[in-house]
Amino acid sequence: MAFTIKVNGNSHSVDVDGDTPLLWVLRDVLGMTGTKFGCGMALCGACTVHVDGAAIRSCITPIESIGDSAITTIEAIGATPAGARIQKAWLDREVVQCGYCQSGQIMSASALLASNPHPTDADIDNAMSGNICRCGTYVRIRAAIKQAAQVTGQGG
Ligand code: FES
Ligand code: FES
Repeated sequence: MAFTIKVNGNSHSVDVDGDTPLLWVLRDVLGMTGTKFGCGMALCGACTVHVDGAAIRSCITPIESIGDSAITTIEAIGATPAGARIQKAWLDREVVQCGYCQSGQIMSASALLASNPHPTDADIDNAMSGNICRCGTYVRIRAAIKQAAQVTGQGG
């Protein structure tokens, strides 16, 4: 069945079954491999993308549920104000270790900062708790989110 989806500002027509997870449409049909497969069961956060600005798990999101919503992936998050701040902070704090989880981490952190420019520790815990990092980069992730939020506070 044909679906037209909006990804990173561009419309794409894809011919897949309606229950195909968004993750596989992004990766296998559109060739956008920045979004990762981890568990396939909404347990790890590696597949996180934004749908109308909200962080969702693309591994359990059927393509037929997307409709006209705007999808943003790691490939374009740097073009958003919050995403640009998060990515800069990630580099400044040298957050990444193996990198596998980091697309999802950045997508969750960017959604948090876009909706809550001054997150508390509890807000950060709540927003990031579904994103697992086997390398244990959590301390640097928290520091980077706080750095990005400080920049927000300074009007940058
Ligand atoms: S691959 Fe989607 S949450 Fe793990
Ligand atoms: S950086 Fe390796 S899993 Fe997170």
